[in-house]
Amino acid sequence: MLFAGHETTTSMLTSLCMVLAQNPEILAQAKVEQETLKQHGELNLEQLKQMPYLEQILKEVERLYPPLAGGFRGVVKPFTYNGYYVPKVGKYYIVLKELIETKEFILIL
Ligand code: HEM
Repeated sequence: MLFAGHETTTSMLTSLCMVLAQNPEILAQAKVEQETLKQHGELNLEQLKQMPYLEQILKEVERLYPPLAGGFRGVVKPFTYNGYYVPKVGKYYIVLKELIETKEFILIL
């Protein structure tokens, strides 16, 4: 649990810092959103739900720099997808980076 919650969050926040440093215009826009919220008093849980721009940035950071490389999945029932037959054998490793960048994302182990 410590690893699942700590290393993933650390990785994402590190990528966030990199992306904001590389894109000053996005950083400036994010600051505007934060400054606007600051005018309505102390940060609270309600305000956390009012940061759509920051949420967009975080989702894009996760998409471009996924904290996890991938994950294992089993096949319950064989199927054909997009011309590829996926049999019920062993485990499949889904490579997230490949999933985002190419269509060839399933490796059979
Ligand atoms: C940016 C932060 C995080 C990312 C990118 C992330 C990513 C993921 C992914 C992709 C899985 C699915 C793994 C799989 O099914 O193969 C997962 C599962 C899990 N994560 Fe996270 N996670 C994050 C933060 C956290 C935090 C903060 C906690 C707990 C404090 C946590 C606890 C768990 C647990 C317990 C599972 C297993 C759930 C299950 O058994 O179905 N994660 N996480």
